[in-house]
Amino acid sequence: MSDKKIHEVELLAKLIKTVGDEHHVSQVLDLGSGQGYLSRILAFKHGMRVLAVDMSEIQTKGAERFDQRAIKALSISGNKNNNDNDDTISVSQENLKHVTEMVTPDNVGQVLSRWTVNQEDKNNDWIVCGLHTCGDLSTSMFRLFAESNQIKWLVNVGCCYHFLSEDGPQPGFPMSDGLKKKGYQLGNSARVLACQSPSKWTDPIIGQQSFNQYFYRAVLLHTIVDKGLAKKAPPIGMIKRKKTYLQYYQTAMKRLDYGSEVITEEEAEEYYQLYKDQHVDKQIIVLWTLRVLLAPVLESLILIDRWIYLKSLVESTDSKNKGVWMWPLFDSLASPRNMCIVVSK
Ligand SMILES: C[S@@+](CC[C@H](N)C(=O)[O-])C[C@H]1O[C@@H](n2cnc3c(N)ncnc32)[C@H](O)[C@@H]1O
Repeated sequence: MSDKKIHEVELLAKLIKTVGDEHHVSQVLDLGSGQGYLSRILAFKHGMRVLAVDMSEIQTKGAERFDQRAIKALSISGNKNNNDNDDTISVSQENLKHVTEMVTPDNVGQVLSRWTVNQEDKNNDWIVCGLHTCGDLSTSMFRLFAESNQIKWLVNVGCCYHFLSEDGPQPGFPMSDGLKKKGYQLGNSARVLACQSPSKWTDPIIGQQSFNQYFYRAVLLHTIVDKGLAKKAPPIGMIKRKKTYLQYYQTAMKRLDYGSEVITEEEAEEYYQLYKDQHVDKQIIVLWTLRVLLAPVLESLILIDRWIYLKSLVESTDSKNKGVWMWPLFDSLASPRNMCIVVSK
């Protein structure tokens, strides 16, 4: 795991374990479990029973391979069992099951009962959790939490707001009645912007690298429109960071499928130099800095909408534990998508 992933899964797993211990829930549904990093820590380090569900067979097969590697590594290192030690590890594959399934609020009950070993067990409560559940997966998780009688707790850190749906009968945004009534809409640009993190840009190297890429894109798009290849700037999509404009231009032109002869390398360099001489790169820095400062406002709007939806959901229950909590769980520099939502009903 990368340092970022270790930071995230250690903190999130500890939180889930605390919720489970305090409320006597030992079963966890890890939704959108990917390669199973969080699931493995919950099962192998914290001894919880985990059903790790992902709709991608590639992910679940990959996760199973990682399980075997972890089990082998932990057996070789002696399978520690010292109760005074926070690193106590009890490796049991029985605690962890990976399932390939597309989960929806309609089928979650069947998925859970298939995994429940003892149907007679009185304590059949579950925690549903998800780390970086992209787009509508977070909001599907909230909706299935609302529908399911077995799921009593929810622990979620979302991401990728640009994939949120804004139309259809159950949009990802807005979820709350209040925002729905006001007809709130974000649109694609605002959703993309909500994923930006001003805290990352305080690092001058990372900041400068990002500004360079924005400048490269602006130069190329202006060139395309200026040469009459398109009436308005075509979408290029994400391009991996490039050191020079020429590298950026080569990759982008292949993707746009115009053929390299319509803008030659010499021409590309000339346009680049022209805009550089006009200090467009400096203007881009000002524009993007102002833009990115709006990102936390947009992210807050999405998160508050979720919070209001969940708050009104749990208010209708008579549980003494009911509540909705939201706070930044991860270090925002290490992991910008760090807002954790915990719900109890
Ligand atoms: C951004 S990845 C996060 C993976 C993992 N939680 C992590 O933090 O490493 C989101 C995962 O959710 C899965 N996913 C998305 N929608 C799903 C759904 N409705 N049911 C099950 N899995 C889903 C995707 O296949 C993907 O592996």
